[in-house]
Amino acid sequence: MSERASGPQEALAEVRLLWGVCGSFSAVAVPHVNAWLRGTVGIREIRTIMTAQAHALMGPRMIEAVTGHVPVTDWEDHTGGGAAHVALGSWADVLVVLPATANFLAKAAHGIADDVLTATLLAAECPVIIAPVMNAAMWSKPAVRRNVDQLREDGYQIVEPKEGISLTEGRREAGSLGDFQLALSAALVQAAARLTHPRGQ
Ligand SMILES: Cc1cc2nc3c(=O)[nH]c(=O)nc-3n(C[C@H](O)[C@H](O)[C@H](O)COP(=O)(O)O)c2cc1C
Repeated sequence: MSERASGPQEALAEVRLLWGVCGSFSAVAVPHVNAWLRGTVGIREIRTIMTAQAHALMGPRMIEAVTGHVPVTDWEDHTGGGAAHVALGSWADVLVVLPATANFLAKAAHGIADDVLTATLLAAECPVIIAPVMNAAMWSKPAVRRNVDQLREDGYQIVEPKEGISLTEGRREAGSLGDFQLALSAALVQAAARLTHPRGQ
């Protein structure tokens, strides 16, 4: 049995969730998703990475307030002196990118690692869940669909955006944050199982 957990409930509480936040209006969902993760699922260990555009749009304070940790926005490993993408990539049991922008999808689909989030995606060895959010026109573009198909083929789990009220236009359209709960809770339960039954035991 792992040194990190002794039973299923305890294991779930000890799953390390790494959360990437991109530059989308839907970053306003972060406190609600965080509350669901902590209150309903029982996750305690959450660290976040914000892209520069997410930081420019909303600043770090809301995320710090709700998760209890300053979001990582640069290459420093604030836990010990290495590089953030390597430290966070090996720390994480599950990586979720929510909201994921069209820009992030394009970079991830092509293996580009020019910021901490995309570099961590490559450095991480855990399951990855990506929840794209964008307006309906962006979501319908062939380039975006190609990138999403590629990411699926590469083994990433995509949470399809769904129809919802556009935060800018106020009309109902495709591209809103999808139903992430099922995909995310399944990945977290699997990660918890790996903590109580490490590979090979
Ligand atoms: C207010 C605002 C809201 C945005 N919302 C989205 C969005 O929901 N989805 C998206 O793909 N891009 C959105 N963008 C565009 C991205 O911020 C832009 O493509 C940026 O380069 C993304 O950088 P990142 O992927 O590193 O966060 C928005 C831009 C602004 C200024």
